[in-house]
Amino acid sequence: DAAPFAPFFRAALAVAREAGAIIKAAFEDGQAPPNPNIKDANDVDLVTATDQAVEALIQSRLRDAFPDYAFIGEETVAANNGQAPPLTARPTIICDPVDGTTNFVHGFPFVCTALALVVDHTPIVGIVYNPILDQLYVAHKGYGAWCNGQSLPRHRAAHAMDARATLFITEGGHDRSPIAMDAKIGTWRHALAADGKYPPVRGIRCTGSGALNLCMIARGAADVYWEVGLHAWDMAAAAVIVTEAGGMVVGDEALDADRRTTWDPQATPFDVMGRKAMAIRKRDVAFMRETIERVIDYPCPRD
Ligand code: IPD
Repeated sequence: DAAPFAPFFRAALAVAREAGAIIKAAFEDGQAPPNPNIKDANDVDLVTATDQAVEALIQSRLRDAFPDYAFIGEETVAANNGQAPPLTARPTIICDPVDGTTNFVHGFPFVCTALALVVDHTPIVGIVYNPILDQLYVAHKGYGAWCNGQSLPRHRAAHAMDARATLFITEGGHDRSPIAMDAKIGTWRHALAADGKYPPVRGIRCTGSGALNLCMIARGAADVYWEVGLHAWDMAAAAVIVTEAGGMVVGDEALDADRRTTWDPQATPFDVMGRKAMAIRKRDVAFMRETIERVIDYPCPRD
């Protein structure tokens, strides 16, 4: 209750549970349409009536309670030709009503609502709720991270990062352009087969939800997550959860090949609108630098 954004935290938690009930009912009734709508110009980027209804609910509840806060939501941006409003220093609610929409449509149970409060470009509150598996991840900057009331991380907290024992999460993602495919497939090959410089990782996983991938890092259930092409609503909430669980998240400032050399891990804040994320389960700058060298960057327009 002493946390500066405790009122927002409480309101966001309540609406995340309401959203979860709607998503779970639609998921279990098999209401997800077999032929969902696709977003403009990308036939693997799906949207359903549930995404839109849940975002409308979240927007009305939180905008009524916090009228001075800005709002960036996945479906509101989609309705505005994909154009996100600029992120300013003003407190900004960032919302993904259904992260893992493809999972939702197929009945694959990694589906969540992600809600963040970003203040002065820094994620402060993060709530990620998977109503299908009933896993509620929450964090408030400076106050720790929790899953269903238990503090995070749950696994492997004491172990040092070890390249030979890495469980690596990444995704196919929506961008199937030749340059993106070369980078993604090249990174998979490099991670699995290695090439003499680093040992191969133990395994690769994808949950199909950027927010839940980050939560797997916060739990300590996986060691590294990398993806290019994420949006602010996929990353902002879970980024607080990872850092409050003792992990580390970097974005465009560290992953972009041109900006890498100027990246200062002490001074550079996570770039919420930068479309890129690399997260590791422990704050280990040397391991982060080594891991960044193992992935192949490619350009991606900012949110
Ligand atoms: C997508 C998921 C997916 C990731 C994509 C995201 P959506 O979000 O997080 O894992 O690979 O980059 O856009 O469309 O399900 O909300």
